[in-house]
Amino acid sequence: MELKGTNFSLREWRADDAELLQKHADNPNVYAFLMDRFPHPYTMDDAVSWVNIMLRQKPVVTFVIAVEDRLAGVIGLELRDDIYSKAPLLGYWLGEEFWGRGIATEAVKLITNYAFSTLDIARIQAGVLSRNPRSMRVLEKAGYTKEGVLKDNIFKDGLVLDEWVYGMVRITV
Ligand SMILES: CC(C)(COP(=O)(O)OP(=O)(O)OC[C@H]1O[C@@H](n2cnc3c(N)ncnc32)[C@H](O)[C@@H]1OP(=O)(O)O)[C@@H](O)C(=O)NCCC(=O)NCCS
Repeated sequence: MELKGTNFSLREWRADDAELLQKHADNPNVYAFLMDRFPHPYTMDDAVSWVNIMLRQKPVVTFVIAVEDRLAGVIGLELRDDIYSKAPLLGYWLGEEFWGRGIATEAVKLITNYAFSTLDIARIQAGVLSRNPRSMRVLEKAGYTKEGVLKDNIFKDGLVLDEWVYGMVRITV
């Protein structure tokens, strides 16, 4: 399973992705915008554990963002249960050296199309920290709608922050 972008692809995981995962993920400028469950520092053990989980995914909803076939970042959906079963959450990050090339915007478009065409879902949702205008721009360029702001919903790095909620609903004609 591979989704082709202009200068990258979204592909499935391989055991040898762990090394570059650890290298790119171990960065405070990446961690600053993600959930605290994203390890920091990001060790080789963390990378190997994550890759092992990824190798067992069913269905495949989290991809390697690969530049020249080498891991440059990660994009995926978190499938939820109970009343949220048709509303997965979208998450993504790129190694800092790959920022500013339009990769994330195109990757969001690719995974969104893939998800709506292969999964029985009604919407995709993304939550963005108020201090992350770059990611807001990515979602807006990819066609997501800013649906609301959850005031003081985030506690990150000792700061209480707003969370901006973006969504895209399945278009049914
Ligand atoms: C967010 C992230 C994935 C963006 O990746 P990227 O490939 O650099 O994004 P793109 O190049 O597709 O688009 C970035 C857009 O933000 C804009 N931008 C950059 N810095 C900005 C800022 N400070 N304020 C507003 N917009 C900004 C860019 O100009 C670009 O928009 P444009 O094409 O209209 O010029 C990457 O920065 C990252 O991994 N950050 C850390 C993890 C993270 O934030 N993940 C998302 C959590 S919700």
